[in-house]
Amino acid sequence: MLEEQLLDPTRHDRQAFTSGVAELDKYLQHFAVQQSKKGITVVRVLVDTNAPRTILGYYSLSAAQVDAIQLDERTQQKLPRYPVPCFRLGRLAAHSAHHGCGLGRLLIGCAVERCLEARKYVAAYALVVDAKGQAAKEFYEHYGFTPCRDNPMTLYLSLGT
Ligand SMILES: CC(C)(COP(=O)(O)OP(=O)(O)OC[C@H]1O[C@@H](n2cnc3c(N)ncnc32)[C@H](O)[C@@H]1OP(=O)(O)O)[C@@H](O)C(=O)NCCC(=O)NCCS
Repeated sequence: MLEEQLLDPTRHDRQAFTSGVAELDKYLQHFAVQQSKKGITVVRVLVDTNAPRTILGYYSLSAAQVDAIQLDERTQQKLPRYPVPCFRLGRLAAHSAHHGCGLGRLLIGCAVERCLEARKYVAAYALVVDAKGQAAKEFYEHYGFTPCRDNPMTLYLSLGT
């Protein structure tokens, strides 16, 4: 059974994780634990409970804000003219041995679900993400994310009302 867990260096093998994007692997191996401890981000991993040390994928979430002017015009009209509170999907990656098997979809679903849960307590209008390349941008667009006006590599997904 697949399970989402908080990243725990004593339980999860970060070194064996490879997504095909060196920057995302390096982040998990060298920075994710430190940044979690400092309250900069929360990192959650996906594991199979039959082999719970193996990280199948991960994502990170933090608080964020975007300028209303970055959002599409119709959305802007509905919002105040000051920075809009958001969550940031800092990083998301699936193990390269399992690309195309639905892990990316599952990771996005878990991240959005966590945001919806968190915004019961702290308001946030959208989930934003910085795509690391064109393929990643297309992946997020596939899930309904909209590119920001000034920087199309930053995308947002309205979390609804
Ligand atoms: C991007 C990534 C997370 C996708 O994960 P995955 O497990 O291969 O994707 P899935 O099998 O869950 O595919 C989910 C859906 O996304 C679509 N999809 C996958 N990659 C896509 C892409 N580059 N562009 C558009 N759609 C894409 C699939 O067709 C599938 O569509 P469906 O649900 O309608 O069938 C994975 O390829 C990865 O980790 N890549 C390296 C790291 C990376 O680029 N992360 C993005 C960080 S910015």
